[in-house]
Amino acid sequence: MKRVLVVGGAGYIGAHVSWVLQNSGYKVRILDDFSNGLKRRVDGIFDDVVVGDVLDRESIINALSEIDSVIHLAAKKAVGESVTNPLKYYQHNVGGTLNLLAAMSLKGVKKLVFSSTAAVYSPSQKDSIAEEDATEPLSPYGATKLLSENLIREVSKAEEMSSVSLRYFNVVGSSKPEFGDNSKDNLVPKVFAAIARGESPEIYGDDYQTPDGTCIRDYIHVEDIAEAHLSALKAVERGQIAKVYNVGSGSGYSVLEMIKQISRTIGTELNPKVVGRRDRDTPRLIASTRKIESELGWKPKSSLEEMIDSAWAAERKYGIGV
Ligand SMILES: NC(=O)c1ccc[n+]([C@@H]2O[C@H](COP(=O)([O-])OP(=O)(O)OC[C@H]3O[C@@H](n4cnc5c(N)ncnc54)[C@H](O)[C@@H]3O)[C@@H](O)[C@H]2O)c1
Repeated sequence: MKRVLVVGGAGYIGAHVSWVLQNSGYKVRILDDFSNGLKRRVDGIFDDVVVGDVLDRESIINALSEIDSVIHLAAKKAVGESVTNPLKYYQHNVGGTLNLLAAMSLKGVKKLVFSSTAAVYSPSQKDSIAEEDATEPLSPYGATKLLSENLIREVSKAEEMSSVSLRYFNVVGSSKPEFGDNSKDNLVPKVFAAIARGESPEIYGDDYQTPDGTCIRDYIHVEDIAEAHLSALKAVERGQIAKVYNVGSGSGYSVLEMIKQISRTIGTELNPKVVGRRDRDTPRLIASTRKIESELGWKPKSSLEEMIDSAWAAERKYGIGV
Protein backbone atom coordinates (compact mmCIF):
# COMPACT_ATOMS: atom_id res chain seq x y z
CA MET A 1 0.00 0.00 0.00
CA LYS A 2 1.36 3.43 -0.95
CA ARG A 3 1.89 5.85 1.93
CA VAL A 4 1.16 9.55 1.61
CA LEU A 5 1.97 12.33 4.05
CA VAL A 6 -0.67 15.07 3.89
CA VAL A 7 0.81 18.23 5.43
CA GLY A 8 -2.10 20.44 6.52
CA GLY A 9 -4.46 17.45 6.37
CA ALA A 10 -6.68 18.70 9.24
CA GLY A 11 -7.53 21.78 7.18
CA TYR A 12 -10.60 22.30 5.02
CA ILE A 13 -9.12 21.11 1.72
CA GLY A 14 -6.56 18.78 3.33
CA ALA A 15 -9.25 16.70 5.05
CA HIS A 16 -11.09 16.29 1.74
CA VAL A 17 -7.88 15.30 -0.04
CA SER A 18 -6.99 12.82 2.74
CA TRP A 19 -10.49 11.31 2.54
CA VAL A 20 -10.32 10.76 -1.22
CA LEU A 21 -6.81 9.26 -0.97
CA GLN A 22 -7.83 6.95 1.89
CA ASN A 23 -10.87 5.81 -0.09
CA SER A 24 -8.63 5.18 -3.10
CA GLY A 25 -6.42 2.73 -1.22
CA TYR A 26 -3.62 5.00 0.03
CA LYS A 27 -2.32 4.81 3.60
CA VAL A 28 -2.66 8.42 4.78
CA ARG A 29 -0.59 10.11 7.49
CA ILE A 30 -1.65 13.65 8.38
CA LEU A 31 0.73 16.24 9.78
CA ASP A 32 -0.88 19.45 11.05
CA ASP A 33 -0.13 21.99 13.78
CA PHE A 34 -3.88 22.63 14.22
CA SER A 35 -3.33 26.39 13.95
CA ASN A 36 -6.39 26.38 11.68
CA GLY A 37 -7.07 22.64 11.49
CA LEU A 38 -9.99 21.05 13.32
CA LYS A 39 -9.97 17.89 15.44
CA ARG A 40 -13.43 16.94 14.18
CA ARG A 41 -12.04 16.64 10.64
CA VAL A 42 -9.68 13.84 11.73
CA ASP A 43 -11.01 12.20 14.94
CA GLY A 44 -12.41 8.75 14.17
CA ILE A 45 -11.77 9.30 10.43
CA PHE A 46 -7.97 9.10 10.07
CA ASP A 47 -5.89 6.94 12.39
CA ASP A 48 -2.39 8.31 11.70
CA VAL A 49 -2.34 11.97 12.74
CA VAL A 50 0.86 13.72 13.82
CA VAL A 51 0.72 17.11 15.54
CA GLY A 52 3.66 19.05 14.16
CA ASP A 53 4.81 22.29 12.57
CA VAL A 54 6.10 22.31 9.00
CA LEU A 55 8.71 24.80 10.19
CA ASP A 56 10.13 22.18 12.58
CA ARG A 57 12.59 20.08 10.52
CA GLU A 58 12.74 17.25 13.10
CA SER A 59 8.93 16.83 13.06
CA ILE A 60 8.92 16.60 9.28
CA ILE A 61 11.83 14.17 9.10
CA ASN A 62 10.12 11.87 11.61
CA ALA A 63 6.76 12.14 9.84
CA LEU A 64 8.41 11.20 6.51
CA SER A 65 9.38 7.79 7.83
CA GLU A 66 8.18 5.11 5.31
CA ILE A 67 6.39 7.74 3.21
CA ASP A 68 6.32 7.49 -0.62
CA SER A 69 4.83 10.88 -1.50
CA VAL A 70 3.77 14.18 0.03
CA ILE A 71 0.80 16.51 -0.47
CA HIS A 72 1.67 19.95 0.92
CA LEU A 73 -1.30 22.13 1.84
CA ALA A 74 -0.11 23.80 5.06
CA ALA A 75 -0.06 27.57 4.70
CA LYS A 76 -1.39 30.87 5.95
CA LYS A 77 -3.99 32.01 3.44
CA ALA A 78 -5.59 35.33 4.42
CA VAL A 79 -4.75 37.75 1.60
CA GLY A 80 -5.46 40.87 3.69
CA GLU A 81 -3.34 39.69 6.62
CA SER A 82 -0.51 38.92 4.21
CA VAL A 83 -0.44 42.63 3.30
CA THR A 84 -0.21 43.78 6.93
CA ASN A 85 2.06 40.94 8.07
CA PRO A 86 4.13 39.73 5.09
CA LEU A 87 6.88 38.32 7.32
CA LYS A 88 4.46 35.76 8.75
CA TYR A 89 3.48 34.69 5.22
CA TYR A 90 7.00 34.40 3.85
CA GLN A 91 8.09 32.55 6.98
CA HIS A 92 5.27 30.01 7.01
CA ASN A 93 4.55 29.58 3.33
CA VAL A 94 7.99 29.87 1.75
CA GLY A 95 9.93 28.79 4.88
CA GLY A 96 7.57 25.84 5.36
CA THR A 97 7.96 24.69 1.75
CA LEU A 98 11.75 25.08 1.94
CA ASN A 99 11.88 23.09 5.14
CA LEU A 100 9.68 20.35 3.73
CA LEU A 101 11.78 20.10 0.55
CA ALA A 102 14.98 19.87 2.61
CA ALA A 103 13.50 17.11 4.76
CA MET A 104 12.23 15.24 1.66
CA SER A 105 15.68 15.54 0.09
CA LEU A 106 17.29 14.12 3.22
CA LYS A 107 14.83 11.22 3.38
CA GLY A 108 14.87 10.53 -0.37
CA VAL A 109 11.13 11.19 -0.80
CA LYS A 110 10.76 12.23 -4.45
CA LYS A 111 7.07 12.89 -5.09
CA LEU A 112 5.19 16.07 -4.21
CA VAL A 113 1.83 17.70 -4.91
CA PHE A 114 1.66 21.35 -3.80
CA SER A 115 -1.31 23.65 -3.10
CA SER A 116 -0.88 26.83 -5.07
CA THR A 117 -3.46 29.44 -5.95
CA ALA A 118 -4.99 31.59 -8.68
CA ALA A 119 -3.65 34.53 -6.63
CA VAL A 120 -0.31 34.04 -8.44
CA TYR A 121 -1.77 35.57 -11.64
CA SER A 122 -1.53 39.18 -12.76
CA PRO A 123 -4.86 40.99 -13.17
CA SER A 124 -6.23 40.22 -16.64
CA GLN A 125 -9.25 40.99 -18.80
CA LYS A 126 -8.96 37.64 -20.60
CA ASP A 127 -12.01 35.36 -20.65
CA SER A 128 -10.00 32.67 -18.91
CA ILE A 129 -6.50 32.45 -17.47
CA ALA A 130 -4.09 29.74 -18.61
CA GLU A 131 -1.01 28.46 -16.83
CA GLU A 132 1.39 30.28 -19.17
CA ASP A 133 -0.28 33.67 -18.59
CA ALA A 134 1.58 36.37 -16.69
CA THR A 135 2.15 35.89 -12.99
CA GLU A 136 2.59 39.02 -10.93
CA PRO A 137 0.77 38.46 -7.66
CA LEU A 138 -1.14 41.38 -6.18
CA SER A 139 -0.56 40.22 -2.60
CA PRO A 140 2.29 38.86 -0.50
CA TYR A 141 0.14 35.72 -0.11
CA GLY A 142 0.18 35.13 -3.88
CA ALA A 143 3.88 35.98 -3.99
CA THR A 144 4.70 33.34 -1.36
CA LYS A 145 2.87 30.71 -3.41
CA LEU A 146 4.64 31.68 -6.64
CA LEU A 147 8.01 31.60 -4.86
CA SER A 148 7.15 28.17 -3.46
CA GLU A 149 6.22 26.93 -6.96
CA ASN A 150 9.57 28.17 -8.29
CA LEU A 151 11.44 26.60 -5.40
CA ILE A 152 9.71 23.28 -6.04
CA ARG A 153 10.48 23.48 -9.78
CA GLU A 154 14.22 24.12 -9.16
CA VAL A 155 14.51 21.33 -6.60
CA SER A 156 12.54 18.96 -8.82
CA LYS A 157 14.96 19.53 -11.69
CA ALA A 158 18.09 19.33 -9.56
CA GLU A 159 17.03 16.27 -7.56
CA GLU A 160 14.85 14.47 -10.10
CA MET A 161 11.90 14.95 -7.83
CA SER A 162 8.49 14.62 -9.44
CA SER A 163 6.12 17.45 -8.58
CA VAL A 164 2.83 19.06 -9.48
CA SER A 165 1.63 22.46 -8.25
CA LEU A 166 -2.15 22.92 -8.38
CA ARG A 167 -3.41 26.48 -8.70
CA TYR A 168 -6.83 26.35 -7.06
CA PHE A 169 -9.45 28.95 -7.84
CA ASN A 170 -12.25 29.60 -5.27
CA VAL A 171 -13.01 26.46 -3.30
CA VAL A 172 -16.55 25.89 -1.99
CA GLY A 173 -18.65 23.07 -0.48
CA SER A 174 -17.92 20.01 1.58
CA SER A 175 -18.38 16.26 1.25
CA LYS A 176 -19.14 15.82 4.98
CA PRO A 177 -20.36 18.52 7.38
CA GLU A 178 -17.33 17.75 9.63
CA PHE A 179 -14.97 18.87 6.86
CA GLY A 180 -16.69 22.24 6.18
CA ASP A 181 -14.85 25.50 5.51
CA ASN A 182 -14.10 27.55 8.65
CA SER A 183 -12.37 30.37 6.80
CA LYS A 184 -13.51 33.87 7.64
CA ASP A 185 -12.22 35.25 4.35
CA ASN A 186 -14.03 33.19 1.73
CA LEU A 187 -17.29 34.51 0.27
CA VAL A 188 -19.65 31.65 1.17
CA PRO A 189 -18.65 31.31 4.88
CA LYS A 190 -18.72 35.12 5.09
CA VAL A 191 -22.31 35.23 3.82
CA PHE A 192 -23.27 32.44 6.24
CA ALA A 193 -21.66 34.39 9.09
CA ALA A 194 -23.69 37.48 8.19
CA ILE A 195 -26.89 35.37 8.10
CA ALA A 196 -26.05 33.92 11.53
CA ARG A 197 -25.60 37.44 12.93
CA GLY A 198 -28.89 38.54 11.36
CA GLU A 199 -27.04 41.04 9.16
CA SER A 200 -27.01 41.73 5.41
CA PRO A 201 -24.09 40.13 3.54
CA GLU A 202 -21.61 42.70 2.23
CA ILE A 203 -20.56 43.15 -1.40
CA TYR A 204 -17.19 44.83 -1.86
CA GLY A 205 -17.93 47.18 -4.73
CA ASP A 206 -20.56 47.04 -7.49
CA ASP A 207 -18.82 49.38 -9.93
CA TYR A 208 -16.46 46.92 -11.60
CA GLN A 209 -16.53 46.46 -15.38
CA THR A 210 -18.61 43.28 -15.22
CA PRO A 211 -22.25 42.74 -16.32
CA ASP A 212 -23.72 43.37 -12.84
CA GLY A 213 -20.79 45.44 -11.51
CA THR A 214 -19.64 42.85 -8.93
CA CYS A 215 -16.46 40.78 -9.14
CA ILE A 216 -16.54 37.50 -11.04
CA ARG A 217 -14.72 34.43 -9.78
CA ASP A 218 -14.39 30.76 -10.68
CA TYR A 219 -15.90 28.56 -7.93
CA ILE A 220 -14.95 24.90 -7.70
CA HIS A 221 -16.34 22.15 -5.45
CA VAL A 222 -13.83 20.93 -2.87
CA GLU A 223 -14.66 17.34 -3.92
CA ASP A 224 -13.46 18.16 -7.44
CA ILE A 225 -10.33 19.74 -5.93
CA ALA A 226 -9.70 16.57 -3.92
CA GLU A 227 -10.11 14.42 -7.05
CA ALA A 228 -7.60 16.65 -8.84
CA HIS A 229 -5.05 15.74 -6.14
CA LEU A 230 -5.60 12.07 -6.82
CA SER A 231 -4.98 12.68 -10.55
CA ALA A 232 -1.91 14.79 -9.74
CA LEU A 233 -0.54 12.16 -7.39
CA LYS A 234 -0.89 9.50 -10.07
CA ALA A 235 0.93 11.82 -12.47
CA VAL A 236 3.87 12.31 -10.08
CA GLU A 237 3.95 8.57 -9.54
CA ARG A 238 4.40 8.17 -13.29
CA GLY A 239 7.45 10.45 -13.01
CA GLN A 240 6.11 13.71 -14.38
CA ILE A 241 8.48 16.42 -13.30
CA ALA A 242 7.61 19.98 -12.24
CA LYS A 243 4.20 20.69 -13.74
CA VAL A 244 1.69 23.43 -12.88
CA TYR A 245 -2.08 23.13 -13.42
CA ASN A 246 -5.11 25.33 -12.85
CA VAL A 247 -7.93 23.70 -10.90
CA GLY A 248 -11.19 25.55 -11.44
CA SER A 249 -14.61 24.94 -12.92
CA GLY A 250 -13.91 27.08 -15.99
CA SER A 251 -17.11 29.07 -15.28
CA GLY A 252 -17.45 32.49 -13.69
CA TYR A 253 -20.09 33.72 -11.24
CA SER A 254 -20.44 37.24 -9.89
CA VAL A 255 -20.76 37.95 -6.18
CA LEU A 256 -24.42 38.89 -6.78
CA GLU A 257 -25.07 35.61 -8.60
CA MET A 258 -23.47 33.72 -5.70
CA ILE A 259 -25.69 35.52 -3.19
CA LYS A 260 -28.75 34.70 -5.33
CA GLN A 261 -27.78 31.01 -5.34
CA ILE A 262 -27.23 31.09 -1.56
CA SER A 263 -30.72 32.66 -1.21
CA ARG A 264 -32.19 29.78 -3.25
CA THR A 265 -30.38 27.19 -1.12
CA ILE A 266 -31.42 28.63 2.23
CA GLY A 267 -34.93 29.49 1.04
CA THR A 268 -34.72 33.15 2.11
CA GLU A 269 -34.14 36.19 -0.09
CA LEU A 270 -30.91 37.88 1.04
CA ASN A 271 -30.56 41.64 0.64
CA PRO A 272 -26.86 42.37 0.29
CA LYS A 273 -25.36 45.73 1.21
CA VAL A 274 -22.78 47.30 -1.09
CA VAL A 275 -19.68 48.61 0.67
CA GLY A 276 -16.37 49.95 -0.69
CA ARG A 277 -14.04 47.95 -2.91
CA ARG A 278 -11.42 45.80 -1.22
CA ASP A 279 -7.81 46.62 -1.84
CA ARG A 280 -6.26 44.58 -4.69
CA ASP A 281 -9.44 42.83 -5.96
CA THR A 282 -9.47 42.09 -9.69
CA PRO A 283 -12.78 42.27 -11.62
CA ARG A 284 -12.69 38.73 -13.03
CA LEU A 285 -10.64 35.59 -12.58
CA ILE A 286 -11.70 32.41 -14.37
CA ALA A 287 -9.60 29.31 -14.97
CA SER A 288 -8.77 27.74 -18.26
CA THR A 289 -8.88 24.04 -17.39
CA ARG A 290 -7.73 22.81 -20.79
CA LYS A 291 -4.26 21.75 -19.61
CA ILE A 292 -5.32 19.65 -16.61
CA GLU A 293 -8.17 18.08 -18.60
CA SER A 294 -5.95 17.06 -21.49
CA GLU A 295 -2.83 16.05 -19.53
CA LEU A 296 -4.28 14.53 -16.34
CA GLY A 297 -7.76 13.57 -17.56
CA TRP A 298 -9.40 15.45 -14.67
CA LYS A 299 -12.68 17.31 -15.18
CA PRO A 300 -14.83 19.24 -12.69
CA LYS A 301 -18.14 17.49 -12.02
CA SER A 302 -20.16 19.49 -9.49
CA SER A 303 -22.62 22.32 -10.10
CA LEU A 304 -22.74 25.60 -8.22
CA GLU A 305 -25.96 24.44 -6.57
CA GLU A 306 -24.24 21.29 -5.24
CA MET A 307 -21.37 23.39 -3.87
CA ILE A 308 -23.64 25.79 -1.99
CA ASP A 309 -26.06 23.09 -0.79
CA SER A 310 -23.23 21.05 0.71
CA ALA A 311 -21.63 24.14 2.30
CA TRP A 312 -25.01 25.03 3.83
CA ALA A 313 -25.41 21.48 5.21
CA ALA A 314 -22.07 21.92 7.01
CA GLU A 315 -23.07 25.37 8.24
CA ARG A 316 -26.37 24.09 9.63
CA LYS A 317 -24.65 21.29 11.54
CA TYR A 318 -21.66 23.20 12.92
CA GLY A 319 -22.32 26.91 12.45
CA ILE A 320 -18.81 27.25 11.08
CA GLY A 321 -19.53 30.55 9.38
CA VAL A 322 -20.31 32.20 12.74
N1 LIG B 1 -9.58 27.65 0.39
C1 LIG B 1 -9.33 28.16 -0.81
O1 LIG B 1 -10.25 28.66 -1.51
C2 LIG B 1 -7.93 28.10 -1.39
C3 LIG B 1 -7.70 28.65 -2.67
C4 LIG B 1 -6.42 28.59 -3.21
C5 LIG B 1 -5.39 27.98 -2.50
N2 LIG B 1 -5.62 27.48 -1.26
C6 LIG B 1 -4.50 26.85 -0.55
O2 LIG B 1 -4.88 25.54 -0.18
C7 LIG B 1 -4.24 25.15 1.03
C8 LIG B 1 -5.29 24.65 2.00
O3 LIG B 1 -6.24 25.67 2.21
P1 LIG B 1 -7.46 25.50 3.20
O4 LIG B 1 -8.54 26.39 2.71
O5 LIG B 1 -7.74 24.06 3.44
O6 LIG B 1 -6.84 26.15 4.50
P2 LIG B 1 -6.83 25.62 6.01
O7 LIG B 1 -6.31 26.72 6.84
O8 LIG B 1 -8.15 25.05 6.37
O9 LIG B 1 -5.78 24.44 5.92
C9 LIG B 1 -4.41 24.62 6.15
C10 LIG B 1 -3.98 23.63 7.20
O10 LIG B 1 -2.58 23.77 7.42
C11 LIG B 1 -2.33 23.80 8.81
N3 LIG B 1 -1.11 24.57 9.02
C12 LIG B 1 -0.93 25.91 8.82
N4 LIG B 1 0.34 26.25 9.13
C13 LIG B 1 0.97 25.10 9.50
C14 LIG B 1 2.28 24.80 9.92
N5 LIG B 1 3.22 25.76 10.05
N6 LIG B 1 2.59 23.51 10.22
C15 LIG B 1 1.65 22.52 10.12
N7 LIG B 1 0.37 22.76 9.73
C16 LIG B 1 0.05 24.04 9.43
C17 LIG B 1 -3.55 24.45 9.44
O11 LIG B 1 -3.72 24.09 10.80
C18 LIG B 1 -4.67 23.91 8.55
O12 LIG B 1 -5.18 22.69 9.06
C19 LIG B 1 -3.47 26.37 1.51
O13 LIG B 1 -2.13 26.21 1.14
C20 LIG B 1 -4.12 27.52 0.76
O14 LIG B 1 -3.20 28.56 0.55
C21 LIG B 1 -6.86 27.53 -0.69
